[in-house]
Amino acid sequence: MFCTKPSTLLLLLTVYVSCNKLNISYQWRILDFDFGSPEKRQAAINDKSFIPENNLPLGLEVYKNRIFVTVPRWKFGVAASLAYIDRTTDPMESPMLKPYPNWDAHRPLGGEPPEIVSPFRIRADQCGRLWVLDTGLEGLLEENPNIYKNSTVMIYDLHNDELLRTYEIPYEQTTEDSFFANVAVEDEDCENSFAYFADLGGPGLVVYSWKQNRSWKVKHNYFHIKPVAGDMTVSGINFQWTDGLFGLALRPEKDGYSTLFFHPMTSFDEFSISTRILRDEALATSKDSFYEFKYLGGRGPKSQSGASFLDKKTGVLFYALVHLNAVACWRTTNPAYTMESQGRIYMNNITMVFPNDVKVDNEGNLWVLSDRLPQFMYTSLDYNDVNFRILSAKVSEAIKGTACASKLVKDPDIMEKIATKLGDKNLISKSASSENKVCNLLIVGLVVAFLR
Ligand SMILES: *[C@@H]1O[C@H](CO)[C@@H](O)[C@H](O)[C@H]1NC(C)=O
Ligand SMILES: *[C@@H]1O[C@H](CO)[C@@H](O)[C@H](O)[C@H]1NC(C)=O
Ligand SMILES: *[C@@H]1O[C@H](CO)[C@@H](O)[C@H](O)[C@H]1NC(C)=O
Ligand SMILES: *[C@@H]1O[C@H](CO)[C@@H](O)[C@H](O)[C@H]1NC(C)=O
Repeated sequence: MFCTKPSTLLLLLTVYVSCNKLNISYQWRILDFDFGSPEKRQAAINDKSFIPENNLPLGLEVYKNRIFVTVPRWKFGVAASLAYIDRTTDPMESPMLKPYPNWDAHRPLGGEPPEIVSPFRIRADQCGRLWVLDTGLEGLLEENPNIYKNSTVMIYDLHNDELLRTYEIPYEQTTEDSFFANVAVEDEDCENSFAYFADLGGPGLVVYSWKQNRSWKVKHNYFHIKPVAGDMTVSGINFQWTDGLFGLALRPEKDGYSTLFFHPMTSFDEFSISTRILRDEALATSKDSFYEFKYLGGRGPKSQSGASFLDKKTGVLFYALVHLNAVACWRTTNPAYTMESQGRIYMNNITMVFPNDVKVDNEGNLWVLSDRLPQFMYTSLDYNDVNFRILSAKVSEAIKGTACASKLVKDPDIMEKIATKLGDKNLISKSASSENKVCNLLIVGLVVAFLR
């Protein structure tokens, strides 16, 4: 196909470029922190509590003026594993991270583990609480990691940054392989909120009731990996992962509950379950509830996905495609979950290498953090190059021209480009009949196939 139809490739690449809808908001070659003074920074470098090249941003959250990032302790020398920048005052280029809630929370004091050890992802709910899901482990990539504490969630009040509550996930709800890397919060009712902690290693889902201050563990076949999806190559680095339940996204429903959309990372499939089941411990753990969990469909080849997030206003689900260096979307009111029904938001093998977190803020902006994690883990990052980025766009702009837009408007420019470049009536009519859903994942799939 490549040899006989180069114009098709050209067309697809043209479309591919015009489908990148995110702007870079912040970027770093290497992370640095605001230590208060150059002397304090130098002291941290001298005693190795800060080894700049061991700091990689991973989780993202946006609340009012603050953009939070987690900096998990994969290696030793992470200055603070939860930090923020200020949207109103910080520059786009290499803004310095400020520790959250303060420096003391990140230091072992009097033989006690630090208040915050190593969170991967966090969630700011609409009640002004920041949920920090802490793995408790330091040095996952080092020879001798430190197990500071069991997986614990800390909940901070974002109005005054005080610690409201600490909840250790009960040992019997974990396994030897447990690893809690993602959290979703059902926050329609601030007093009766529920949090969902994804255990990618268990695999399992821990449901926590804020009101009862108690949790229970849910198991299901759909939390497990699809074995053939474990082999990935990103930026020429080949690796095999076995991450189970990972992406969690909530859509509130009229019945007062929500639909939880979820997927394992090592998989191409998407699933859902009502929180009516999950919130009731007896129902959630009953064998009779097997069929309450729904299989929605598959995204197609190389579509392994990590973090996901649902925009409540439009009902659009956004997710990171870690193997395709892409971010895609699906309108959850669409009955079909197929390769063709996925919209493409952004795809780039330099600026979107390993999209690690995805969020929508309260003002309708989509945010994505990409961080070249495979290089950091398996080879090394080039610190003369930009490695970490936070990209954003208004949700309405991001979904325009994709299968996720509510009203699909035909873009005459693109249709004309297609006509002149291709001269292929069949493909034109195909595009036209799909109402100009030009930015869809099918095209991503084709580009990938062409470039093989
Ligand atoms: C984790 O919990 C178990 C069971 O309560 C306990 O034995 C163990 O010491 C805890 N680990 C840490 C690091 O606190
Ligand atoms: C919640 O439960 C945990 C452990 O079961 C306990 O340590 C903590 O004090 C409780 N918090 C509140 C606010 O009840
Ligand atoms: C990105 O993809 C292009 C082809 O689309 C390829 O030529 C280039 O080498 C790739 N760059 C990286 C860094 O993988
Ligand atoms: C990206 O930034 C440009 C220039 O600031 C702006 O015109 C455009 O609307 C932005 N795009 C999105 C999707 O927000």
